[in-house]
Amino acid sequence: LSVGLCGTKLGCGEGGCGACTVMISKYDPFRKKILHHTANACLFPICALHHVAVTTVEGIGNTKSRLHPAQERIAKSHGSQCGFCTPGIVMSMYTLLRNNPEPHMEDIEDAFQGNLCRCTGYRPILEGYRTFAKVSGCCGGKANGPGCCMNGKENSTMTSSSLFNSSEFQPLDPTQEPIFPPELMVSFNKQQKQMCFKGERVMWIQPTTLSELVALKSQYPNAKLVVGNTEVGIEMRLKNLLYPVIIAPAWIPEMNAVQHTETGVTIGAACTLKSVEEVMRKAVSDLPPYKTEIFQAVLEQLRWFAGPQIRNVAAIGGNIMTASPISDLNPVLMASGSKLTLVSKEGRRTVTMDEKFFTGYRKTIVKPEEILLSVEIPYSKKGEYFSAFKQASRREDDIAIVTCGMRVLFKDGTSQVEEIKLSYGGMAPTTILALKTCKELTGRGWNDKLLQDACRLLSGEMDLSPSAPGGMVDFRRTLTLSFFFKFYLTVLQKLSKSGTVSAPWEGRFGEGEPLCAALVGKARGGFRFEQEVPKGQAVEDMVGRPLVHVSASKQASGEAVYCDDIPHYENELYLTLVTSTKAHAKILSVDTSEAQSVPGFVCFVSAKDVPGSNVTGIANDETVFAKDVVTCVGHIIGAVLADTQEHSRRAAKAVKIKYEELKPIVTIQVRCRFKSTCDGRHLITPGISFLQDISFHFLGEMYLGGQEHFYLETHCTLAVPKGEDGEMELFVSTQNPMKTQEFAANALGVPSNRVVVRVKRMGGGFGGKETRSTILTSVVAVAAFKTGRAVRCMLDRDEDMLISGGRHPFLGRYKVGFMKNGRVKSLEVSYYSNGGNSVDLSHGVMDRALLHLDNSYNIPNVSSVGIVCKTNLPSNTAFRGFGGPQGMMIAECWMSDLARKCGLPPEEVRKLNLYHEGDTTHFNQKLEGFTLRRCWDECLSSSSYHARKKLIEEFNKQNRWKKRGMSIIPTKFGISFTAGALVHVYTDGSVLLTHGGTEMGQGLHTKMIQVASRALGVPTSKIYISETSTNTVPNTSPTAASVSADINGMAVYNACQTILKRLEPIKQSNPKGSWEDWIKTAYESCVSLSATGIPDVGYNFEKNEGKPFSYFSYGVACSEVEIDCLTGDHKNIRTDIVMDVGTSLNPAIDIGQIEGAFVQGIGLFTMEELRYSPEGNLYTRGPGMYKIPAFGDIPTEFYVSLLRDCPNSKAVYSSKAVGEPPLFLSASVFYAIKDAIYSARKDSGLTEAFRLDSPATPERIRNACVDIFTKMKRPNDGPGSTLPEHENIGNIVSGCPAGCATLCCISASR
Ligand SMILES: Cc1cc2nc3c(=O)[nH]c(=O)nc-3n(C[C@H](O)[C@H](O)[C@H](O)COP(=O)(O)OP(=O)(O)OC[C@H]3O[C@@H](n4cnc5c(N)ncnc54)[C@H](O)[C@@H]3O)c2cc1C
Ligand code: FES
Ligand code: FES
Repeated sequence: LSVGLCGTKLGCGEGGCGACTVMISKYDPFRKKILHHTANACLFPICALHHVAVTTVEGIGNTKSRLHPAQERIAKSHGSQCGFCTPGIVMSMYTLLRNNPEPHMEDIEDAFQGNLCRCTGYRPILEGYRTFAKVSGCCGGKANGPGCCMNGKENSTMTSSSLFNSSEFQPLDPTQEPIFPPELMVSFNKQQKQMCFKGERVMWIQPTTLSELVALKSQYPNAKLVVGNTEVGIEMRLKNLLYPVIIAPAWIPEMNAVQHTETGVTIGAACTLKSVEEVMRKAVSDLPPYKTEIFQAVLEQLRWFAGPQIRNVAAIGGNIMTASPISDLNPVLMASGSKLTLVSKEGRRTVTMDEKFFTGYRKTIVKPEEILLSVEIPYSKKGEYFSAFKQASRREDDIAIVTCGMRVLFKDGTSQVEEIKLSYGGMAPTTILALKTCKELTGRGWNDKLLQDACRLLSGEMDLSPSAPGGMVDFRRTLTLSFFFKFYLTVLQKLSKSGTVSAPWEGRFGEGEPLCAALVGKARGGFRFEQEVPKGQAVEDMVGRPLVHVSASKQASGEAVYCDDIPHYENELYLTLVTSTKAHAKILSVDTSEAQSVPGFVCFVSAKDVPGSNVTGIANDETVFAKDVVTCVGHIIGAVLADTQEHSRRAAKAVKIKYEELKPIVTIQVRCRFKSTCDGRHLITPGISFLQDISFHFLGEMYLGGQEHFYLETHCTLAVPKGEDGEMELFVSTQNPMKTQEFAANALGVPSNRVVVRVKRMGGGFGGKETRSTILTSVVAVAAFKTGRAVRCMLDRDEDMLISGGRHPFLGRYKVGFMKNGRVKSLEVSYYSNGGNSVDLSHGVMDRALLHLDNSYNIPNVSSVGIVCKTNLPSNTAFRGFGGPQGMMIAECWMSDLARKCGLPPEEVRKLNLYHEGDTTHFNQKLEGFTLRRCWDECLSSSSYHARKKLIEEFNKQNRWKKRGMSIIPTKFGISFTAGALVHVYTDGSVLLTHGGTEMGQGLHTKMIQVASRALGVPTSKIYISETSTNTVPNTSPTAASVSADINGMAVYNACQTILKRLEPIKQSNPKGSWEDWIKTAYESCVSLSATGIPDVGYNFEKNEGKPFSYFSYGVACSEVEIDCLTGDHKNIRTDIVMDVGTSLNPAIDIGQIEGAFVQGIGLFTMEELRYSPEGNLYTRGPGMYKIPAFGDIPTEFYVSLLRDCPNSKAVYSSKAVGEPPLFLSASVFYAIKDAIYSARKDSGLTEAFRLDSPATPERIRNACVDIFTKMKRPNDGPGSTLPEHENIGNIVSGCPAGCATLCCISASR
C-alpha cells in the first residue's frame, strides 16, 4: 500500500474470483528448484511470504515503458471491459507462461479455472491468449483470416474478418523476465531458525523441525496449523473466528516428503494439492493401470477441486483435517482405506480413514495436541476398481453438492464381490460410509440384481429428512443412486473388457458412448461475422471500426484508477456498516460500548447524526439509517468509523443490537398480494374483443429466481468534506451521479450545488449501481460531515451481496388461447415480482416486464396485470434488461408449452407467431424497421438448424442417459431516456470531452471518442475523457437501459456541431489550415471553444396510449446443449447469435457486449441461485456459494454475427443500443435444456408439457429427468414432505446450503 501498488484487485476476499491473483516465486528446498505459481493474495498470509518473491501485475510491464505480451494481448483482443478482473487474469496467464512459454490451449483454459469475469463472456480473452498456444502445424495466428484455426472455424465455410491483428503483437521473449531475487536464495541457504511474528491479536510461529512443531502443538494444543490458509483464512475473515496462535509447518521436511512404499504412496500432510496432483500423475504414467485405480480417482477429484490458485497453496492435510462434510478428497481416502500417521509428544500412531475417523461436524479422532504427519494412499490391486464422482452447481471451482468415492474388490478372476466400500460426502454432517449396503452387497455377483438391490439399500441408508440442512433433498438422494449406477456401469465395462463377465456391456443401457465421463467440452472459440465500414470511409474516421477500449492497456497493467485506488487523504477514516441481522423487527437498543474499546475507534454514526433528512430513496420510502424498525436483513442501522479498515471492521462486529422480532414476509405470496403489495396499477387492456376464435386454451405458471449483479468491484465511496459552506466532494462507484448528488445533499441538508460527485470508472455496474449505490454514499457523506474528515468505505463482497439487492424474482401465471395450427389468439397473464423492502425502481421494472410480455410475438388480445410484492428482503433494483428478460422468459415458457400442446416443432410455432413489419404491439406501437425475421432466417441457416436437429434426434435415440437439446429464441427489446455533453477544445487542439454517461467497462467512453472524432474531424488520439462529474455535466440520466451511447452520443454530436458552427467562418477564411491553426485563430478571435450539448417518448398504461420506446433492438440465438440425465449436469455445446445493432459504432465493443450479456444470461437462466433462510437471511453471500458462469461455462462453439445493412435512423450514426438486448437470448440455452429433458422424459414414457422453473440448475434438471432412480421410494417420503411450489416461491432452504449441520454463515462452510 505504501508504494501505491493498487493493480491487484479485491473482488471477494475469499479465494473465489481470482481478481487478486499474484505470482509467488520461491526456492523449494525439497525439490531444489525455483517454483513459480499463482496464489490468491486475499488469502495469502503476509507471514508466509518469508523467503518468497511476489510479482504483481505492475511488476511485469506498464504503459509508460512496455506492456508485457500477456497484458498487451488481452487489451488488444478486447478482453478487458471494466478491467477489474483483468490484472488477475493477466497474472494467471503470465505465471503459466513463466512455467511453460509454449502452452497448449487446454493449459491456458485450465489456468483460468480460478478467475472470474462478469463483463466479457470470456471468449475474447481466450481468443487473445490463443495466440500464445502451441498448436501443431499452426501459424500462430499470423494468418488470422479465413481458414486460420485460431478463429476456431476449421469446420466452417463462413468467412469473417478479425477484430484484432495478431501480427502487431510483441513476441514473447522468456529471457526478458525478471530473475528470482538472488538475495532470497542466499538467505535460504543459511541455516533456518524458528520464527515468530506477533501482531495485535495473533502470533504466527514458523518452526523448522518436526520436534519443534510437536513441542509447539503440545504447548498450544488449540493452535491452528496453517499451510494454505484456504480454510483458516476464510474462518477468520468471514466467520469472525479468532485464532490467537498459528503454527506454520510448511518448511518441515517430513511434512513435505513423498515416499513410495510397498503398499502405496505416502504424502506429507503439508504437500500442496498441486504437488499431490503431480505425484499422482507420475504414478499413473509409470505404474501398471490396475495399481493406480485410486490415484486416477484422486486426479479426477483434483481436476474439479477449486482453481489453480487454491490448489497451488492448499495442503492435503488441511483438506482432511478440516473434516468438511463436502470435502472432495475425504470420500476417496475413506473408500480406499487410506492410512494417516499422527504425531504428538506421546509418539506416533497410524489410523485408517474409516467410519470412525470423523466424529461429528468438522470433528475427527485426532487429539488437539496431535498433528497429521502424512497420508498413505494405497495402490489398487488386480481385480479392484475405483471411481470418484462429484456434482456441484458449477463444474469449475465449486464445492460439491454430493461427492463420493467407490471401491470394489472382486474375488480372483470372478465378478463376485469380495469387498466393497461406498463413501459419500454431502449426505450427513460428516463424510460417511454406506456400511449396511456394503455389507449386503459383499459376496454378491456384479449383475443387474445387485444394481437393483444396491439402489434399494442405498435409498434407505442415504436418506435425508425433508428439512435436512442444505435443502435439495430429492436431488441429493437421487445423486447417491445415480453415482452408484455410474460406478456399476464403469465396473461392468471394465469386467467385460477383462473378459470376467461374458455379456457385452455396450448397448445394454442404451448408451452409444461412454456414460460415466463428465460433460467436458473446452471452449473452441467463436467465429464472428461483423460489419465492414463502407468502402471509401476515411482511414482516420474511426466510427464503425474495432477501436480498442481506451483504458484497456491501463486496465491490463494495473494502472487504471478505480474509486478505492484514490490515494489516502491525511487523517482519513474508514467506515464499516452496522446492519440488521433480522428481516423484520423493532430496534430495542444499540450498544456500542464494546466497540469503543477497539483500538482506533473514532465514533458511531446513526440516524441522530443526519444533519438533513433521514428519509431517502427513489420513492421516499427508505431511510439513511434505520431508526425504530428494520425491514430486511442488511438494513443499515449505523456505521463505525475508525483509523483503519481492520479496526473499523472489528469495532462494527462488536456493536450489540437488541431486537423485538416481527413476522417477516420473504417470498412472493400470491394469496396475500393485496395485503403485501406495493402496487397493482400496471394493467394493459386488450384492444380487440377478447377471446374470439379460440379453439383451445391452457393455463400455466413459471417462477424465475433473482440474480446478484456480482460486478467485480463492490460499492465504494470516498467522501471529502471541503470545509466551506457544506461543500463535499464524493468519489463514487456509481452509474447515477445525479441521484447520488441529490440524495447526499438531501441527507446533509445542503443544496445540490455544494456536492460534487466524481466517477472515473466502475469495475462493473449492470444496474446494481444505478440507485443502490446511494444507500452507501449517503451514509459515508453523513460520516464525513460529522467528523469533518475524509471517510472511505468499500464494501466487502458479503456485505455488498447482503444489502444491495438484485434482479427481481418473478412469478408468471398465464392463460393462453390458441388455434390448432399453433397460432396464439389471446393471452391473460399476471406477473408478480418480489420488490423487497422499498419501491426503488420496482415499478419501472414491472412496466418493462409487461411491455415485453409478447417477446416478439403478435398476440391479438392481451390482458395483463403486474403486481410488485413488498417483502422483507433488501430492495431489488435495476439489472441489465430491467424486467424485460423476466417478461419475455414467461412468454417463451407458454410458447414452449403451446408447441407441445399442438404437437408441432417449437421453431415452427415461434416463427408462425412472429410479428411482421408494420404490426402493432399490445401497447399499440407500430413496428417499423422490423429486422427480426431477417435475424431469424440468418440464424436458422448459419446454425444449420434443421440438419443438426436430425443429428440430435439420432444422438438421443442412441443414448439413454445423455440427451441433447436445441432451441432457437428471438428477442425484441424496446429502447427509450436526458443526457448531456461538454466539449472543451484547448489551444493546442486537444479536446477534453465530458458527457453524462459513466464508464463501467461497456466501452461508452471509447464510443463517445469515436463519435466526437468523426463529428469534429480530428483523430481519436486528440480526444480525452477524464471522468464523469456533476459539476461538468449536470442532471444526467443514469447510465442504464442500454441507451447511454444513443443519448450521450447525440449530446456529444450536438456539442461538437456547436463548436464546428463557430469555427465555420475561420475555416472558410483559411480552408487549407490545419485543425490546430483554426483553433489558434478561434482563440485569438475570442471564439468560445467550449460547448455543451443535450439531445421524446412517453406511455400511459391506463389508456394504453403513447410510445414507450423510440425503437427496438432485435436478435435471435440458437443454442445446443447436452445434459447428463443422471446428475443434472449440462454442457453448452454451441450457440449462434444474429444481432441487429444498426450500423455498429464499434463492432469489437458491440460483440463484446453481446457475448458478455449472453453469458450473464446463461448465469441467470441456468446457474445463479440466491438462497435464503425462511427468516429472510441470505445464504449466498460470495462466490463460494453463488456461482456465476466461469470460463468453462461458455458454449464450446460461440458464433456471433452482426446483421448487415440495417441502419437505425433513430440514433447517432445509425447505431443501436446493445448492452441489454442480447441478455435474453441466453433463454435459448434454457429451452435447449428443456428440449433435452423432454427427450429424457420420453424414454420414461412421459410426453406431456412439464414445468421447469428458472434457473435450470443441475437440481432442477435431474429432478425433471424422471426415471427409476427419482421414483425410488424412501423412508422419509410421505404426504407433505415438500412444500407446494406456490407456497414456497423463492429459494428458501433450511440450514446452510453447503450442507453443514449448523446455520453457519455461507462462504465459510466449505
Ligand atoms: C475458493 C475455495 C475453493 C475451495 N474448493 C474446494 C473444493 O472444490 N473441494 C474441497 O474439498 N475443498 C475446497 N476448498 C477448501 C480448502 O481449500 C481445502 O480444504 C484445503 O485442502 C485446505 O488446505 P489448507 O492448507 O489451505 O488448510 P488451512 O486453512 O491451512 O488449514 C485447515 C485446517 O486444517 C488443520 N491442519 C492443517 N494441516 C494440519 C496438520 N498437518 N495436522 C493437523 N491439523 C492440520 C488446520 O489447523 C486447520 O484447522 C476450497 C476453499 C476455497 C477458499
Ligand atoms: S479477491 Fe481474492 S480471490 Fe477474489
Ligand atoms: S472486464 Fe472482467 S469483470 Fe469486468
